Formats: sequence, structure tokens, C-alpha cells
Amino acid sequence: MEHKLGIKINDLEDDLVVSVSANNLSLAVVKHEGKIYALDSKCTHEGGPLGEGHIDNGELICPWHSGAFSLESGAADENTPWVTDVKSYRVRVDATTGDIYVEE
Ligand code: FES
Repeated sequence: MEHKLGIKINDLEDDLVVSVSANNLSLAVVKHEGKIYALDSKCTHEGGPLGEGHIDNGELICPWHSGAFSLESGAADENTPWVTDVKSYRVRVDATTGDIYVEE
């Protein structure tokens, strides 16, 4: 099932992570090197808000205890073993409207 997010690609600044809710989803969304990524916003450690995290070296960093996740896959970085993988979503951008969709 596809969920339309209430933001468009041009609303996003490079590497600035935002929190987005869509239906039952709560997501951390970011544009990195021109591509959009969407991960579950709840950190797998103690539930920190990944939508308030930041990007470092192409990874999403949790604001609470710096757990690091791959933007592409949501995989936990082995250097921050206190977190486990977080769910990542396939993202589609409508080339005409710039609307962003995630697939669940
Ligand atoms: S809650 Fe995210 S690293 Fe602890």
C-alpha cells in the first residue's frame, strides 16, 4: 500500500531530517544527495525520535544516544551495537508534482 506524504521534494533541504506522519506511519524523512529516504521514526534502542536526528557520513543518527542507521536499508551501524535495524520504506517521487509516496 502506498502512502502519500504531505510534503513535496522541494520542501526538503539536503540532509535536514524531518518528522512526517502519514496514516498509521510515523517517519523520519530526509533528502540526501538528491535522493529521498524514509525510515521509521522510532529508534530501536529506547524509542528516540529519529525524525529529530541528523545525517552524518550518509547515516541517520539518533538524537538520544547517537545510534546510527543506513539511510538505504535502515541497517544498524555495527559501531553502534546498542541499536538494531529500523524499518526502511521504498520511496517514490512523482516527477510532475514532486509529491512523495512511501510504500508499506
Ligand atoms: S534511543 Fe536511539 S540510540 Fe538510544
